[in-house]
Amino acid sequence: MDSPFEILGVDPDADDAEIDRAYRRRVIDVHPDQGGSVEEFHRLRTAYEAVKDGYTPEQDAPVENGKREATRGEAARRGDADSASADGEDDPDAARVEYLNYEVIDDHGWDLGDDDLFEKASAAGLDHEDYGQFLVRPNETLLEAAENRGYAWPYACRGGACANCAVAVFEGEMDTPGDHILPSTMLDSDIRLSCMGRPLSDEMQVVFNVKHLPGLDELRLPPYPFEQAHMND
Ligand code: FES
Repeated sequence: MDSPFEILGVDPDADDAEIDRAYRRRVIDVHPDQGGSVEEFHRLRTAYEAVKDGYTPEQDAPVENGKREATRGEAARRGDADSASADGEDDPDAARVEYLNYEVIDDHGWDLGDDDLFEKASAAGLDHEDYGQFLVRPNETLLEAAENRGYAWPYACRGGACANCAVAVFEGEMDTPGDHILPSTMLDSDIRLSCMGRPLSDEMQVVFNVKHLPGLDELRLPPYPFEQAHMND
């Protein structure tokens, strides 16, 4: 069994930035559309999560078939009480993001192109899972902020190689740095990847869960890590 460090191609003393860079380089290679396979992707993803969550060379944490014990990071994403994060209210540079779940748009007979989409959502009495606001700290991606505030937004690779985490930016600006799989037509339509992107505006409106939009569906990987993290929800 290869160690997670070998799978990622980093030294055990690599810092977070080096680990992230190594993962993003590798995840593009192992995406099925780039000649990789779903199994390779799961193996890489599992290794990445283990290293990010504090795996040490001395640990005997099995990383086979994409299955192992839950890590601290996964526990945090599940919202375990002792790992809850602050809401960002103490950070003057945090951006305020108003969000809406794409899945409820159809249910209400609305359309993604409606100018007053968020006004209608605000007045509809939706659950917090589907509509609301939260703050994004400068050091958080949009996906990390959603998770740190207790929301289960979809993802798979967390490295720009699928479209499970895609959001439609309704108002404001958001970046998508580094290598990623989104075609320029999607970027031109204000589709961004929440696993990589950070708000560039103080206030934003985004529709999350747009992974089934035409053009995004075929870029998706099976959302194995998301399903594992939320299997007990
Ligand atoms: S989770 Fe795969 S691109 Fe964001």
